[in-house]
Amino acid sequence: MNGDPVATAWYNSVSASLPRGEAFFIDTMKNFRDDLPPALEAEVRNFVRQEINHTREHIAFNRMIGEHGYDVESIDRGIIDMLALADGRPREVNLAVSIALEHFAASISHELLADPRYLAGAEHEAAELWRWHATEEIEHKGLVHDIWLHATRDWSAWNRWKTLSLVSLLITRKYFGNRVRDALGLMAQDGITGLRAKWRLYRFLWASPGMMRRLLPHWSKILLPGFRPWSFDNGHLIREYRGHAEAAPVTT
Ligand SMILES: [Fe+2]
Ligand SMILES: [Fe+2]
Repeated sequence: MNGDPVATAWYNSVSASLPRGEAFFIDTMKNFRDDLPPALEAEVRNFVRQEINHTREHIAFNRMIGEHGYDVESIDRGIIDMLALADGRPREVNLAVSIALEHFAASISHELLADPRYLAGAEHEAAELWRWHATEEIEHKGLVHDIWLHATRDWSAWNRWKTLSLVSLLITRKYFGNRVRDALGLMAQDGITGLRAKWRLYRFLWASPGMMRRLLPHWSKILLPGFRPWSFDNGHLIREYRGHAEAAPVTT
């Protein structure tokens, strides 16, 4: 990332968290697959295919981070611990956890595609990985929530709102907190430590380019009663990316 250790650590911290997270989404969806109308079932198949592809590419990306001398295994273990919080709870809780994390992913994805400054100057292939992944995250951003509406169709609106809001707040706080902790851990491996490290990461996330500050108004919509991922229609970003990807020369 432009030789910037802070930006590099942030994206590496996110990437290292993805394979476990995506495996969790896939397992959660499979748990509900037998109980769905055919249209949703077809969308689940597409979702699973997309997440498997993301996982494959991020495992390769994470291996590359390791080959550059960074330890990312503890990040992977941290995600296992975080997701274990849902163990033994009703399967709808896993669905709510997935909605929350997919919504956070879709919010980051929107930022990455809507503002080219985030990835400007990044190594080309790495930037393309993030843009491709971001596009597919936006593409399937409504699906887990559609399944939630179907699975909780007998719940009261209050119960649905309360569960989703609470889980979203708790899990997003935990996930974001762990991303910060792990980015600081990666920066420490570069010799950037202490208050200086915290200040630099804080500035990167909240001030300049300030992805978290920019996505907060959009992310917080998950806390509103009647939240729907596609109430915020950013489908144009998918069309723009596909147009650009198809026009790009094929390189091998
Ligand atoms: Fe994904
Ligand atoms: Fe996803």
